[in-house]
Amino acid sequence: MSSSSTSAQPREATADTVESPLLEVRDLHVEFRTRDGVAKAVNGVNYSVRAGETLAILGESGSGKSVTAQAVMGILDSPPGFVTGGQIVFKGRDLLTLGKEDRRKVRGSQMAMIFQDALSSLNPVHSVGSQLGEMYRVHKGSSRQDAKAKAIELMDRVRIPAAKARVGDYPHQFSGGMRQRIMIAMALALEPDLIIADEPTTALDVTVQAQVMDLLAELQGEYHMGLILITHDLGVVADVADKIAVMYAGRIVETAPVHELYAKPAHPYTRGLLDSIPRLDQKGQELYAIKGLPPNLLRIPPGCAFNPRCPRAQEICRTTVPPLFEVTDEAGTPRPGRASACHFWKETLDD
Ligand SMILES: Nc1ncnc2c1ncn2[C@@H]1O[C@H](COP(=O)(O)OP(=O)(O)O)[C@@H](O)[C@H]1O
Ligand code: SF4
Ligand SMILES: [Mg+2]
Repeated sequence: MSSSSTSAQPREATADTVESPLLEVRDLHVEFRTRDGVAKAVNGVNYSVRAGETLAILGESGSGKSVTAQAVMGILDSPPGFVTGGQIVFKGRDLLTLGKEDRRKVRGSQMAMIFQDALSSLNPVHSVGSQLGEMYRVHKGSSRQDAKAKAIELMDRVRIPAAKARVGDYPHQFSGGMRQRIMIAMALALEPDLIIADEPTTALDVTVQAQVMDLLAELQGEYHMGLILITHDLGVVADVADKIAVMYAGRIVETAPVHELYAKPAHPYTRGLLDSIPRLDQKGQELYAIKGLPPNLLRIPPGCAFNPRCPRAQEICRTTVPPLFEVTDEAGTPRPGRASACHFWKETLDD
């Protein structure tokens, strides 16, 4: 987490020179072969995450965020889903070349996922203590007693009040926010290198959202894990993410360090998302909404997939797919980490 870093060095300089990425997704393609046709859910996605770094992946529902994460975790619903191209390099190894058993091992111990809906991810008929303890019993061979002690320690760690008294309680006896903390505890149990949190706070009240997000960010920094935070809500990522990738129709359409993206988006879709965040200083004003809906991935529009909804669209947008252009400053110097898949990124940046 750059915001909580106490290092005097700028983060970029140290991270880039010392640490190679923990995870590198390269030109990933995923499709779903359905009765209605082939849905191109992920179309050439590239991103990387370093240890201790938070990448937020942002986009409306149906843009391929979860499918990308499922491919990384190796839990894609297959069939109908298939990875049809690319590499998922995790700690130097392409996970797509591993056999099922090796893949399962990586998933069990080195990466973990937190889902939106804790109630359906936790087992309703076992106490949370036994579910947390099972992580230690199965993976580390801990005794029942040790596992219980570990479970209490973890519940304390994610600040569940009266952990010792509540270790025998069942998932439905906890509030939504507390259940989401338990999910975080489950993910942390084996001290993974990478956590993927897929809309982890979407089902929670706004105030609880902020608490859970802060906790996740704090633990991620402490454990020096890589974190991929998937969300459709730009409001929740500003304080915790280092960099953002914006997805649309299975592609990344903009990448930027978080504060640059907020200050000066270089893609009309990002601008639309930013303009639709409620702001305290504009109470009572009508919120902007991007017109129309994201495309059906069975029929992605030709050219720029965003063109039917884009206020800036020109003829070229309907015919030519924009590649991810390097975003540069006025002197032509590339801005680190910035790219935009828009023919008119310069004009958008200058708006
Ligand atoms: N199990 C599935 N079967 C068929 N198509 C799927 C399935 N899961 C996802 N898809 C396709 O992938 C698209 C992207 O889904 P997803 O990654 O879940 O979007 P989001 O960005 O909301 O997380 C969906 O709109 C759908 O077309
Ligand atoms: S390429 Fe064209 S349609 Fe696509 S975002 Fe840029 S201006 Fe809009
Ligand atoms: Mg999703």
